[in-house]
Amino acid sequence: MNSPARKALVSCKSGPATDFIVIGCGIAGLRAAIELARYGHVVMVTKGSPLESSSMYAQGGVAVALNEEDDVHLHFSDTMKAGHQLGQEQAAKVLVEDGPERIQELVSWGTQFDTVDGKFAFTKEGAHSRSRIIRARGDATGDEIVRVLLSQARQHPTITWLDHHFSIDLLMTDGRCSGVLVFDEATGDYLTLSSTAVVLATGGAGQIYSRTSNPASATGDGMGMAYRAGATLVDLEFVQFHPTSLFLPSSPPFLLSETMRGEGGLLRNRKGDLFMKQYHPAAELAPRDIVARAIWSEMAATRSRHMYLDVTHLGSTFIRNRFPTIYTTCLRFDIDITEEWIPVSPSAHYMMGGIQTNIGGATGIPGLFAAGEVACNGVHGANRLASNSLLEGLVFGVRAAQSAMDTKTARTLPHPTNDLPLWTTGIISRTTEDVEKIRSSLRRLMWGKIGLVRTGESLVSALAQLHRWERTMRGPFHNRAGYEVKNMIQVGRCITEAALWRENSLGAHFRADFPDKKGRGWKTHSQLQQIPEQHSSDQQTGKVG
Ligand code: SIN
Repeated sequence: MNSPARKALVSCKSGPATDFIVIGCGIAGLRAAIELARYGHVVMVTKGSPLESSSMYAQGGVAVALNEEDDVHLHFSDTMKAGHQLGQEQAAKVLVEDGPERIQELVSWGTQFDTVDGKFAFTKEGAHSRSRIIRARGDATGDEIVRVLLSQARQHPTITWLDHHFSIDLLMTDGRCSGVLVFDEATGDYLTLSSTAVVLATGGAGQIYSRTSNPASATGDGMGMAYRAGATLVDLEFVQFHPTSLFLPSSPPFLLSETMRGEGGLLRNRKGDLFMKQYHPAAELAPRDIVARAIWSEMAATRSRHMYLDVTHLGSTFIRNRFPTIYTTCLRFDIDITEEWIPVSPSAHYMMGGIQTNIGGATGIPGLFAAGEVACNGVHGANRLASNSLLEGLVFGVRAAQSAMDTKTARTLPHPTNDLPLWTTGIISRTTEDVEKIRSSLRRLMWGKIGLVRTGESLVSALAQLHRWERTMRGPFHNRAGYEVKNMIQVGRCITEAALWRENSLGAHFRADFPDKKGRGWKTHSQLQQIPEQHSSDQQTGKVG
C-alpha cells in the first residue's frame, strides 16, 4: 500500500486577515468571542453548524456556589477531592471564584435558569457536599445557555461567522501561531486565515470511543492541530466515563443525567438488587469514576451487558417535569421511564486532559490560546466533578479571550501562498469507505483496549495498531471525514501513550496491572509534545514531571 513519500500540495486561497480567530462554537468559544468582539474583529470558525457542539447537549446543569448553605471554599475542596488532589489549586480557585459572576452575567443576558420561589432551584450530584447544581428547562441546560450566548454573539457586528469550515492545521510564522488553514465543507476549497491570536475551543474527543455521550463532532480536532503545531498535551490518560447512558441495541448511548441520581434515582443489577453501597458509602452519589467502575464490575460479576437506573419511585408527574428531554427521548425508544427501569452502561464522556494552558488560557505557543474541554489548565485533576464543565467553559473562555487581547498589538502576518505544502505523505488519498472503516475500527479498539480498565498488554497492542493507522492517514483528503479520522487516530495514540506511561490507578485512569492509587511520583503529569514542523514520520514524545 505504501507509495514513496512526497510533498502533497493543495491549492489555497488567502482569506481575510483578522484580529482574532475563535475555533469552536460551544460555550467556551462563544463566551470568548463575545469578550474579544469588544476589542477587535473576530472570525468565528466552526465545522458544521454552530448548533453541533457538546455544550448544546449538556443536561444536568452548572455547579456554582450560589446557594445560601454553600460557599466557594466548599466548591473548591469538592473539586480538588473529586480530582484526587491531582488538580491545580490555582485553576480550581479561579473556577469557583469567577463562577458566580459568570452565572449572574448569563442571567442578565436572559438565561432562564429554573427557580423555586424566585430563587435558583439547586440539585445535588455525585461528590458534591452541597446542593449547588442549577439547571434550565429541567434537563436542557446546555441548550438554554448556548441559545443566549449565540444571540449575544450574533448582535456583535465585529464577529464574522464561518460555519461549515473545518480547521485543518494552525499556521505558524516564526514560532508563533499566525492563523489557521481551513477547508470549506461546501466547495472543497482551502483557505488560509491570518490573525494576531487564535483561541481553540473545539471541545473533546469522545467520538474516538464506540460508546460515547458526545455528539458526532467531538473528534479531537483542536488537540490534533495544537499537537502538530508543537503544543504540549497533558493528562490525556484521564478520560471520564459517564456511568449512565442508555444501553439499547437500537439507540446511541444517550446520556441519562447524573441529576437523575441526584434526585433519588437508584442503580440496580439484573436481579434488581441495589449494589452501590458495596462500592462506596455515598452509593449512587459517589464520585463519577467510582460509580462508572462499580457498574463495570457489576456487569462483569453478573455477566450482563448493562445495569438499570430506576427512577420509577419518583412519580410520573415529577419525572416528566424534571427530565422532559430524557423522558421523551427514552419514550421514542419504547421505554417509559416513569414505569420501567432504564438499561444503562458507561460511555466516554469528557477529557480531563488536553492542551496545556495556564490559568489565562495561554498555551506554550505564542498567539495560541485554548479554553473548555480542549484545554487542560489542571482544574479537573484525575476526575472532573459533575457539572463543572459548563462553568469551566464560561470562566476560562473569558480568561483566554482576555489573554488573547494582549496580543492584539502583534502584527497580523498574511499567508499569501497559493500552494501550501501540507504534509509529507505516504498515501495521497483514501476512499470514503476506507476512512469510515478506520473510524469504526478505531472506535472499537479504543473502547476495548483503552477504556475503563486498561492493562499494559492491551495498551501496547493498541499502540502498534494506532501507529500503523497514523502512518497511512496523512492526507490531503478533500473531505471533512478524512481530517477528522486523522485527528481521532492521533489523539487516540496520545491517550494510549499517556495511559501506558502512568503505572498507577488514579481517578478515571485504571490499570488492572497497577491497581495501586499512589505509587512513587503519582503527582507527575503526563506530557506529550511533537517537535514542530515534523508532521511526518518522526513523532517525538516526551514526558516530564
Ligand atoms: C450529567 O448531566 O450527568 C452530565 C453533566 C456533566 O457532565 O457534568
